[in-house]
Amino acid sequence: MINEKLALNLTKIKNTGLYRNRMLTTGRVASNFSSNDYLALSDHFEIKQAFQEGFARYTSGSGASMAICGYHPIHQDLEKSFSQLLGADNALLFSSGYAANLGIVSLITQLNAHLFIDKAVHASFYDGIRLFSPKYTRFFHNNYDELDKKLNGKKAEAIITVEGVFSMSGQKSDLHAIHKLCLEHKAVCIVDEAHSFGILGPNGLGAVALHGLSQDIVPLRMIAFGKALGIQGAIVVGSKDWIDALFQWSRSNIYSTAISPALTYGILKSLDILYKADDKRENLKNGISYFKNKIATSPLVWRDSDTHIQQLQLGCPHKALFYASQLQDKGITCMALREPTVTRLETGLRVILRADHKPEDIDNLFKHLHNIYESTYRNS
Ligand SMILES: Cc1ncc(COP(=O)(O)O)c(C=O)c1O
Repeated sequence: MINEKLALNLTKIKNTGLYRNRMLTTGRVASNFSSNDYLALSDHFEIKQAFQEGFARYTSGSGASMAICGYHPIHQDLEKSFSQLLGADNALLFSSGYAANLGIVSLITQLNAHLFIDKAVHASFYDGIRLFSPKYTRFFHNNYDELDKKLNGKKAEAIITVEGVFSMSGQKSDLHAIHKLCLEHKAVCIVDEAHSFGILGPNGLGAVALHGLSQDIVPLRMIAFGKALGIQGAIVVGSKDWIDALFQWSRSNIYSTAISPALTYGILKSLDILYKADDKRENLKNGISYFKNKIATSPLVWRDSDTHIQQLQLGCPHKALFYASQLQDKGITCMALREPTVTRLETGLRVILRADHKPEDIDNLFKHLHNIYESTYRNS
């Protein structure tokens, strides 16, 4: 009986065009427009060497959660490096950005504060909300007038949560506007820097650094290592008491094994290289300009974004899958973006630009996208 239900559910999801496939990543790196390895550090020679050294010098496993005996000196070194670079008091490592965001929502719930989230925040915040049930209000994506009105009606201390660069729209948060609102409404802001760290700000230190905000206004910012740093894991950086409280109330930290000490050594090296990678950031900036120029003459519908994340809107999951599979046949990886990750309207392709993409890689992508568009347009 349960097996039949399972099969029925799988058939249903296939029919809606929302079935997910795991695809082996094997093709040319240059033809991959879905990887978050923005600065192409995941295959960086020196970082890989540091990993080898890390595994020679440190234990491969931490042995326990940080709350038991899994907190090693190399973890503390990495936390100190991040907090010093970002002008914050302290930091707390997590095994993933997903776990870190669950921990943040868990803390907000403990504080009995009122969470105000941009509608476009990552699924991990929504899952945290489901799990811990804080008081929360959503506001339209980057709509600060609406946020202002909603903040007026708050009944508890407000905590605003946004992303430096939003994972799906690629749009940036206006942290100046949010800073102003924080001052007016005695609120604080938590920034998920998953897609802004390594890219924005001086030395790629992120959106909060770009806007020169202090930990008084942004007491916590989350940095996921699986994006520009090209590894995995995450850290939350912030003021002393907030980090202390985060550790007390993050079940996703307390009840989970701390990340590998050997791996942590490699992350330290990646951080050092990311900090110095202005040349790569410049390449990425040039790639974004080149891409935007191509969009200007494209007959397709593109969302307004001036970052490394671009969104092609097709409005239909079957169409999105068709475009993605046609591109894959030409050796280009660009995955479909569908519900529930985005709305129906936003359904399409998410194009991710990396520092090692060349103009000819972008030309090739557009050539094939437009061929698909023209062939389907002619046949419809
Ligand atoms: C905005 C944002 N926050 C958090 C996460 C979760 O990070 P991780 O992949 O380390 O779990 C992601 C990952 O996709 C993300 O895009």
